[in-house]
Amino acid sequence: MSVRKILVTSALPYANGAIHLGHLVEYVQTDIWVRFQKMRGHECWYVCADDTHGTPIMLRAEQEGVTPETLIARMHGEHLRDFAGFHIAFDNYYTTHSPETRFYSEDIFAKLTQAGLIEAREIEQYYDPAKNMFLPDRYIKGECPRCSAKDQYGDSCEACGAAYAPTELVNPYSAVSGAQPVLRASTHFFFKLSDPRCQAFLRQWTRAGHLQEEAANKLAEWLGEEGENKLTDWDISRDAPYFGFEIPGHPGKYFYVWLDAPIGYMGSFKNLCAQKGLDFETWWRADSQTELYHFIGKDILYFHALFWPAMLRFAGYRTPTRVFAHGFLTVDGAKMSKSRGTFITAASYLAQGLDPEWLRYYFAAKLNGTLEDIDLNLDDFVARVNSDLVGKYLNIAARAAGFIAKRFAGRLLDEEMTARLRTTLPALFGAEIEIATHYENRDFARAIRRIMALADDVNQYADREQPWKLAKEAGKERELHIVCSLLINAFRLLTIYLKPVLPHLARRAEAFLNVAPLTWKDAAHALPPAHLIQPYEHLMRRIERKEIDALLAANRETLQAPPAPTRHGEHRQHAENKRAETAAREAPTSTIGLEEFAKVDLRIARIVEASPVEGADKLLRLVLDLGPLGRRQVFAGIKGAYDPASLVGRLTVCVANLAPRKMRFGVSEGMVLAASDPTGETPGLFLLAADAGAQPGMIVK
Ligand code: MSP
Ligand code: ZN
Repeated sequence: MSVRKILVTSALPYANGAIHLGHLVEYVQTDIWVRFQKMRGHECWYVCADDTHGTPIMLRAEQEGVTPETLIARMHGEHLRDFAGFHIAFDNYYTTHSPETRFYSEDIFAKLTQAGLIEAREIEQYYDPAKNMFLPDRYIKGECPRCSAKDQYGDSCEACGAAYAPTELVNPYSAVSGAQPVLRASTHFFFKLSDPRCQAFLRQWTRAGHLQEEAANKLAEWLGEEGENKLTDWDISRDAPYFGFEIPGHPGKYFYVWLDAPIGYMGSFKNLCAQKGLDFETWWRADSQTELYHFIGKDILYFHALFWPAMLRFAGYRTPTRVFAHGFLTVDGAKMSKSRGTFITAASYLAQGLDPEWLRYYFAAKLNGTLEDIDLNLDDFVARVNSDLVGKYLNIAARAAGFIAKRFAGRLLDEEMTARLRTTLPALFGAEIEIATHYENRDFARAIRRIMALADDVNQYADREQPWKLAKEAGKERELHIVCSLLINAFRLLTIYLKPVLPHLARRAEAFLNVAPLTWKDAAHALPPAHLIQPYEHLMRRIERKEIDALLAANRETLQAPPAPTRHGEHRQHAENKRAETAAREAPTSTIGLEEFAKVDLRIARIVEASPVEGADKLLRLVLDLGPLGRRQVFAGIKGAYDPASLVGRLTVCVANLAPRKMRFGVSEGMVLAASDPTGETPGLFLLAADAGAQPGMIVK
């Protein structure tokens, strides 16, 4: 087998939002495929980055009172942490706000200009006269021109589904300032997709095996019949104020975020080249012999299957080998919903103590390489993980390991086992080729079905041979040794097959098996004679449905009214405040033990940022430094009592193990402690402080 050179990307997540389980469909899918390629011995690189530019990031930074650079740096940290938590092993996770991405954006723009494919044109657009900025469609609201529903976005109506231009809205207003927008002219740059060269190229490219069949069909629809010229030119510039790259030679004009976003793939790879000594040209020149794959969601197919290949082609670069689109995640058959708590963030899943490999496994069992949506059915999730992983796969090791340890001092049979395995469990070896094909085709669902059918075979073998009976019979020592050694070998093979999906579990299984990191080639042989294994410890526990319910509760967005300032960084319903008040006036009625108190992880925190929250008159957004625990964002209802600037630098006490809470403005990851008089006789709020010398992260008890 020759070594392939493979470059793989996932779409670059927007820097203005938290990673959620929907995103993870994509990053888990890509990561499994990349890990598989690496296990096969190919040279495979996986790059990604945060997509940092555009109006939403600019406005959000402004709202938080920080620079966009500060905001994207924080989000980068959070995204990386979340991805690492799910074992997504990027070779480089970069940012589009980088010198490399700027370089290739300018370079591609210049080359497209030289090719005569960029045109400057004056257009009229809505402008916010209060905020002094042109408004993207999403920031213009008004009444739907078709059904008259109020407060609809500038591009489409959520009530009747109509699509229209923002200028068609009735009584339009700016969602940024509320002002009535006015039409204003400005020069924009367009990428001329309507040029016959682009049309001809795309017509050919989209049918040349680079796309899944359903995707190619969609593209054919967008392209229309030969000679129909359905593609319109693409507006690739935006006016200041904008957070992005200014276009050289055109002050006040910026590249539109979707121009530099895919170029971010090149930027991230270029940055990796510098780290690893790779040659960028080998991978990106027009006649490159390397492979390039983009994993994306079906919502961004247009950008990746039309604009992006055309940009690359006419700027003289290679085009993608394949674009792999996937469907959208639903939870219990419905769109993810904040009110139902099914808009689940990656961070909350981990904070709840759920095993990331449960989700990786479940997604793998559902992903079939098509554009179909995939459903996370929560009951099925619990049942499947418990029955497949714990009940079938791990059970094999658990059934044999004890006997090997107790009766044979941890040693397997002193015989070459490959031939015996082949005759006893014939499907197990041969399956390697078939399973590899399924992984290669991204039909992980079939790979998993095959692997679990094999696990069933192995368990049936154990049921037939009944090692637990052999262990009690005299003179059956060797038979027991054979059966258990076969089971351990079978477990090892299944571990190889599952390793792309369960990398962390596989690492611990390797420690138990006492072997070097398993690669795909290892599936061709058994463990050596008399191999010594380690004592078996539980590798994975079962999920309980109540853990899932707690996860939903943590993600349920309840904030309607502004919070009352009795507890800070937490929202409580009115009734709860009442209860707290009554409790405070009365003498403490019940006591708690020390263990109960010890469950609350109190830590010294330094307030490193404090800013008001737009739309919440009692809240401040705090960023806390918890030393070794890292930084946390906490929303505290202390705005009435403290000037944000006076808080920065102060030490206070934070509840560090409070389940994260999703609020309208973001996730609150803890709570700061403050005193107040619930009767209101002594007004005010008094933040707890620590004496000088205390350090962020210190335990308070
Ligand atoms: N920033 C753009 C991509 C630029 S690529 C040059 C973007 N970002 S995103 O954060 O909205 O989405 C990132 C990826 O996650 C996209 O491929 C998107 O399709 C995918 N998903 C986001 N929500 C999803 C689901 N609910 N389900 C499955 N995938 C989803 O788009
Ligand atoms: Zn409507």
